[in-house]
Amino acid sequence: MCGIVGYIGKQEAQQILVNGLKKLEYRGYDSAGIAVINEQGKMVIAKSKGRLANLESKLESSLEKDALKGNIGIGHTRWATHGEPSDLNSHPHTNQKNTISVVHNGIIENYLRLREWLITKGYKFYSETDTEVIPNLIDYYYENDLLDAVMKAISKLEGSYALGVVSAKEPGKIVAVRKDCPLIVGIGKDEAFIASDVPAILNYTRDIVYLENKEFVVLTSNGVDIFSLEGEKIEKEICHITWNADAAEKAGFEHFMIKEIHEQPKALRDTMTSRIVPGKSINLDNISLTKEDIEKIEKIYIVACGTAYHAGIIGKYVIEKLARIPVEVDIASEFRYRDPIINDRTLLIVISQSGETADTLAALRHAKSKGIKVLAITNVVGSSISREADDVLYTWAGPEIAVASTKAYTTQLITMYTLGLFLAQNKNTLTSEEIEAIKNDMLTLPEKAEEILKNKEVLQKFASNTYMHKDMFVLGRGIDYAVAMEGALKIKEISYIHSEAYAGGELKHGTIALIEEGTIVIALATQSDLYEKMISNVREVTTRGAKVLGFTVEGNTNIEKTVDSAIYLPKVNDILLPVLTVIPLQLLAYYISIQRGCDVDKPRNLAKSVTVE
Ligand code: AGP
Repeated sequence: MCGIVGYIGKQEAQQILVNGLKKLEYRGYDSAGIAVINEQGKMVIAKSKGRLANLESKLESSLEKDALKGNIGIGHTRWATHGEPSDLNSHPHTNQKNTISVVHNGIIENYLRLREWLITKGYKFYSETDTEVIPNLIDYYYENDLLDAVMKAISKLEGSYALGVVSAKEPGKIVAVRKDCPLIVGIGKDEAFIASDVPAILNYTRDIVYLENKEFVVLTSNGVDIFSLEGEKIEKEICHITWNADAAEKAGFEHFMIKEIHEQPKALRDTMTSRIVPGKSINLDNISLTKEDIEKIEKIYIVACGTAYHAGIIGKYVIEKLARIPVEVDIASEFRYRDPIINDRTLLIVISQSGETADTLAALRHAKSKGIKVLAITNVVGSSISREADDVLYTWAGPEIAVASTKAYTTQLITMYTLGLFLAQNKNTLTSEEIEAIKNDMLTLPEKAEEILKNKEVLQKFASNTYMHKDMFVLGRGIDYAVAMEGALKIKEISYIHSEAYAGGELKHGTIALIEEGTIVIALATQSDLYEKMISNVREVTTRGAKVLGFTVEGNTNIEKTVDSAIYLPKVNDILLPVLTVIPLQLLAYYISIQRGCDVDKPRNLAKSVTVE
């Protein structure tokens, strides 16, 4: 998820582009750049690694400033997916002759194949990005008509994109197109804009046109023309925006956390893209783990912190069940000091959204110092953990701004399932039919998550009846116990209620002494083989006066005889249910936090990435 912007008109493009990028930094902030067709008709680019401020200080130098004087340009702020953050990998990217410049948001899935083909046509590449194939493809088809060349290039691309294109050969226009990534057009007086999102241009115009997939737009100083894939002109409705810029950055949501909870269906889809494909074997982005390596593995350690640690516990259930490899999960700050028994038949998996968590990084370094292979699961390309691990599997959740991790967690689970199936595929612990069945079920998770996000009433009601409590218990058995841990952490970290997760069967060995009249209990009973056992555990607390919100799978309506209110989840393979079960838990924590007037996105005492011991 990157941010792109474009401007054509009578004003200085440079500042408008930079101001626009400032409003898009929530979409990515590891490098930025602009391309301007200057007053001499020359295409000039300025780009740099790091936050936008780095580019701004670069533009401060008068040399750069003058060279970039012009009324037309495109800009980009990056969230790296292919090629770690660097000056070379930052956008805009150009063709070899430096006559065509492109900014891109999205992922070109077939870029490697296109790159090899273009190399046979004499093209050379300077970056590690998927994007660089686009300006060269446009160049390959260019015959003095930029729109036509872009249309031909697009027909070769597989994946998702929002593109802005300028050419020194046609200095008076910007061509743009989108597929699966957002792109809007801003209509001003004698000027026009493109942008990934409304905030980027709200200070200049409130008249917006929303582009549909595969619609092309040509911006000139005379106006805006929109074309279909077949090249026909399209008339589009202009929408007048009334939101304020801050709200727009959150896409109309009140907080980044609730916005990111709603981004989970897309994040799940993106994280399965090109890895979970019906009828094709599991593809894990060229990690170096071979069949021989996998057969040699006697033990896997999963090490992480906080929410990532909870994803690791689910990973244990998944890998042991699907691939029959013993897994031990450890908190990083413990692992690195307890001298764990590791040898050349051990694989270490570290999980980290930020890729910068100090304890997890140290655990990685400890294992590597013992010659252990390390596979990292992270959300940030170019992060320390991604650079120091032997192999990396990225979660494609996009930037996660809210401190409380939500979409990173569910994409970590998806990555655990993908890895579990990959190991099972190599160890033949599952038949290809069994693997296909789980894959097909995984591909239904995004739409089932969308379904859950539509039904919030029970959660809002339960939150308004319970937010004043000081304690809460989250119970579960089997894989539900692991989800309960994550649910309890979400409630703790954003509402400051002391909530604890407990294995349903363990309660009667002591903790049940804390249950009294009115105690709040959230009971997860989603696993079919443990359902009856869990219901009897719930009866143990209801008989002592607890108020219970029960989670189960649709159809298990008899739960209503035992709990005060129930949440029903869409049916799916039991082992995949945690991805769905956690979403109403995230929502519940959010509504309770709101009711208590807490700072949802920036809870007290917490940081998004803990880079100190
Ligand atoms: C989760 O909501 C918290 N922000 C925190 O527990 C977090 O999961 C932990 O600090 C690990 O962060 P990481 O995934 O970036 O390594």
